[in-house]
Formats: sequence, C-alpha cells, structure tokens
Amino acid sequence: MTEGLEGVIAARTILSDVDGDAGRLVIRGYSLDQLAGRTRFAAAAHLLLDGFFEDLPDVVGLEARLGLARAAVFARIMSTGGVPTGLNAVESVRALLARLPDGDDLHTAVTLLSAPAVFTAAVARNRNGLEPIRPDPALDHAADTLRMVRGVTASPAEAAALDTYLVTVCDHGLNASTFAARVTASTLAGLTSAVLTGLSTLKGPLHGGAPGPVIEMLNAIGEVANVRPWIEQALARGDRLMGFGHRIYRVRDPRADALKRAVRTLTPDAGRLVLAEAVEQAALAILRERKPNRSLQTNVEFYTALLLEALGFAPDDFTCVFAMGRTLGWLAHAREQVASGRLIRPASTYVGPVPQIAA
Ligand code: ACO
Repeated sequence: MTEGLEGVIAARTILSDVDGDAGRLVIRGYSLDQLAGRTRFAAAAHLLLDGFFEDLPDVVGLEARLGLARAAVFARIMSTGGVPTGLNAVESVRALLARLPDGDDLHTAVTLLSAPAVFTAAVARNRNGLEPIRPDPALDHAADTLRMVRGVTASPAEAAALDTYLVTVCDHGLNASTFAARVTASTLAGLTSAVLTGLSTLKGPLHGGAPGPVIEMLNAIGEVANVRPWIEQALARGDRLMGFGHRIYRVRDPRADALKRAVRTLTPDAGRLVLAEAVEQAALAILRERKPNRSLQTNVEFYTALLLEALGFAPDDFTCVFAMGRTLGWLAHAREQVASGRLIRPASTYVGPVPQIAA
C-alpha cells in the first residue's frame, strides 16, 4: 500500500492518458498538441461526451445548448438569492452549484458545463460591487464568459486563448478531483454531486488552487534581480514553489507549453513573461540542486497564472476558471464510471487499538 495511491490503477478509461515519463497527454485519441489552440471548448465537450448520452447533439448544436444553459443558469441565480456573501470565489461557486438539482441526463450535464462560467462571472463582479451581466446565448462559450466577467466584448484572440486554456485542462487522467468525482458517481448520487465533489477536491493548493499563489509569488519577487534570493529563502523556510512538481510528470508538463504559447498570443511585448521565465529557470535549477533524486518540473499551474492574468481574471477566480474546463472531464468520467456499474469501495489496513478481551 502507498499512502497517496501512487501507481494504483483504479479505473479503465477511454477518456485521457497521461504519460509522465514522456511528457505526453492524450485526450480521447488526440495528443494535446492536436487539440490545444485548434479546438473550441464545445468541440472538446463533444469529443469527451460522445457515446455517454444518446441524445448528444453535434458540435454546433452543443454550442447552442451551452448558450441556452448559460441563460437558464443566470435566471436561476437571480431568482434564488444571487451570489452568497462571506465566502471566497471558489466557495461561492461551490455554494451556487449546490443549488442545482441532481440528474444523470444531457440537460443536467450541459447545465453543469455552462454553470461555472456564469457563476464565476457573477461572483467576480459581485466582489467589485457590480451587477452580473446577462449571458448572450448567441456567442460561443469562451467569448461570452469573458464578456460576462469583464463587461466588454472579447477580441477573437482573447476568446481563442480562453478556449485553449479550457481545452488544455479539460481532462487529465485519474487526477485527485476526477478520482473523487468518480467515487461519488459510483454511488449513483448524480452528476451535480459528482461535479461538486470534483470542485471541492480541486480547490486545494496541491491541486487546482496553485495558480493564485503563483501570481502572489511573482508579485513578491517583483523584478528579475530578486529571483534567486527570493526562491532560496522560500525553500529555506520549507515552502513549496507553486507551479512546480507533479505526482505523475517527471519531465515538463506538456500543458505548460500549450499555455505559454497562448500567453504569447496575448502579450507580444512579453511584459510579465520575462519575469516568469527568469523565475522558472531559477526555480528549476535550484530544485535540481536541492532535490537531485526527484525530477521537479514546471506544471500546468505556472503558465495558467500568466494566461488567466493576461485575460483579465483576478487571482481569486483562477481555480473557478480551472473548474470551467475540468467540469467537462468530471462529467465524462462520472458517466463512464456509472456505465461500468461498479461502486468504488476500497479497503484499509486497521492500525488502531484492538479491543481488550477479558481473561
Ligand atoms: N517546491 C519545493 N519542493 C517540492 C515541490 C515544490 N513545488 N514539489 C515537491 N517538492 C519536494 C517535496 O517537498 C518532497 O521533498 P522531500 O522528499 O524532501 O520531502 C519531494 O519534492 C517530493 O515531493 P512529493 O510530495 O512526493 O511530491 P507529490 O507527488 O506528492 O506532490 C505536488 C506533487 C503536490 C504537485 C507537489 O509537487 C507540490 O506541492 N507542488 C506545488 C503546488 C502545485 O504546483 N500544485 C499544482 C499541481 S498541478 C495540478 O494539480 C493541476
């Protein structure tokens, strides 16, 4: 037994495969390079959900269904008390998701796929004292998401960059949140419960909660001259460098490159990229010196932070944007798990006290 279940095979899946030694991610027969930057979110949704719903429409129909679902989800928040108070962004989105009914059908799946975008936009605007913006079902999902968050129409390059992000993170083998979502789905609790489980697991800093702290790190470092001493001090304190290391990848996470390319399309003057590249180089060198037996490389969260910042999202909202993409993976895995027909129920080794038996 390993405490973190490393190497344990807990599912058979047709959805995605992560090869941590080769640095390769395959999503339903396509390499990440074939999808990221070339595929809209609705097309990725069609790819992953194909075969899991008998009434799944084609890509154009699915894009239209996402638009209608955004409008319906928006109407629901407005009629059920709006954005909750006293919670951070991901907690607010979790609370709003929990207001949705459970179900196993395509309608529930499309609602859940569109909901994180509507909720995140409403939560971000509420934080700034602004009214939420009504979705425009005629726009594609990424363009409408940016419009709802920022209040202005996104450029085609910005919408394409958000599509690249959502597709890049849509599925990634049996990561912690996907495993958790499959456990919930295996009890037949329903898709909303599975997605809520996924989101609750994603929010931790060792999983999807890292990109906000990446921005805090870049802000704290400030300029290239401070990079090396800042990292040395952080590691001397015993801190982990956010955006580095991965349970599976022993080489560079292929998603980091896909996202770095997307950042370049938005910031041709490279601005923040210069500092980020200096941090990345120094971090990799120092981690190599300090942990010679463990290959610690850049993970997806490092360039996620730069891309989402360039798109105008606040660091508080980064994990919610991650959830916009990963909900697709959770839904497909939930359906696949239910189709397997098997409850997930592992065993544990008891190491506690034994009852005293009277002599
Ligand atoms: N900075 C400094 N040291 C690190 C880092 C890091 N980012 N990552 C791992 N290490 C060290 C550990 O302290 C450990 O050292 P030790 O053997 O002296 O105790 C050694 O490397 C091995 O680490 P593990 O804990 O075995 O690695 P694990 O596979 O459990 O962790 C994880 C992977 C959680 C991602 C880790 O690398 C980490 O905490 N990274 C920072 C947070 C982060 O970027 N999270 C996003 C991950 S990507 C995603 O989930 C979408």
